[in-house]
Amino acid sequence: MSSKAVNPVICIRSSAPDDIEPLKMIVRDNDPHLVPSFERDYQLVHVAERLPASGHFLVAKMEHGLVGVTGYRPDAWGARDIWWLTWLYISPKFKRRGIATRLFATAQQELRGLGCRKCYLDVGDLESQRAAVAFHERDGFRLEGTLLDFWASGMHHHIFGKLL
Ligand SMILES: CC(C)(COP(=O)(O)OP(=O)(O)OC[C@H]1O[C@@H](n2cnc3c(N)ncnc32)[C@H](O)[C@@H]1OP(=O)(O)O)[C@@H](O)C(=O)NCCC(=O)NCCS
Repeated sequence: MSSKAVNPVICIRSSAPDDIEPLKMIVRDNDPHLVPSFERDYQLVHVAERLPASGHFLVAKMEHGLVGVTGYRPDAWGARDIWWLTWLYISPKFKRRGIATRLFATAQQELRGLGCRKCYLDVGDLESQRAAVAFHERDGFRLEGTLLDFWASGMHHHIFGKLL
């Protein structure tokens, strides 16, 4: 692991309901179209207060504010030892400082504590999300399946998996 990946000024903690606005800005700065679905998922976790049944979010904080987010949720088909990692977004100004590495390491440590045997995540477009693919492959995820034309014609749904 590079020295960039161990930044002592980054704090990883569980999200709080009032983190929503800065987190929406982080998602917006990466992909404005995804803000409504991020907000829906975030509210579901925080309003429902059924943790961890409806999932969980983690945030990365530096001294001047929130700089990253990720989440995880149980498997929609009810596999009890399968969890899905979601919403990994880093503020553009703070990329390549090891923040996603810290967030995902914490998320996977928490998932092991919940009895997770294998986790999955999805990547929408392999070309435009080359950074995400590089990040996930370095973390040990492998492309295990592709649902063709899932989001729209020509827009596939790529599923990456990793045994914990
Ligand atoms: C992908 C993303 C989460 C990475 O966050 P990050 O904090 O910059 O990642 P890290 O600094 O922890 O990177 C760890 C390693 O991943 C790889 N990596 C990260 N970004 C990369 C890039 N743009 N190109 C190639 N490799 C990359 C590198 O191996 C890197 O190690 P290094 O910096 O020592 O070379 C971030 O670029 C992002 O928010 N992208 C937009 C949203 C997105 O695509 N989310 C994932 C949806 S599945």
